[in-house]
Amino acid sequence: MRNLSRKAEDYLEAILNVSLEKGYAKTKDIAAELSVRPPTVVEMVRKLDAMGLVTHRRYEGVTLTSEGRNIAEVIKYRHETLQAFLTLIRVPEATASRDACIMEHELSPNTIEQIRHFVEFIGTEPGNTDLLRRFEDFCRSKQEPVPVSPGYRGQGTLQSPAGAVDGSQPSMAPPGRRNGRDRSLR
Ligand code: FE2
Repeated sequence: MRNLSRKAEDYLEAILNVSLEKGYAKTKDIAAELSVRPPTVVEMVRKLDAMGLVTHRRYEGVTLTSEGRNIAEVIKYRHETLQAFLTLIRVPEATASRDACIMEHELSPNTIEQIRHFVEFIGTEPGNTDLLRRFEDFCRSKQEPVPVSPGYRGQGTLQSPAGAVDGSQPSMAPPGRRNGRDRSLR
């Protein structure tokens, strides 16, 4: 896969998400998906167009080329795998989505595959429901505050992960649209 910036990968992923939801991707929809201003999108779309990853027509909006779509699907797959894993270990939903969006760019394919296998294994093997229940109990028993690094700019995670425990079953279902997340670009 072509070596792109995180920002370019985020745009391709956002264009794919918007296209899947609406059937097309207008600049304003991409801007809303990424929580940026439309002129910022226009500028990036122009770059992606020059790289042969999207085409931009005034009335049709932004369309992924086959190469752009391939890259977007890889990023989306990585995001969904990581979000499923973080949700499985009971990271709160908004944090899981935000962190999946950071991790999706950096982890090796081998790590992503092993995480995928782990999520599938936990979700399908009999007996793992009990394991998860015991893990939730373990989290609840932990009362110490979560250490936060000085450079961390996220929000709302200064609580024990046990706060995320809701007793729901693990799932490999795609997380779908990630509402309420911090998608500010890095
Ligand atoms: Fe993402």
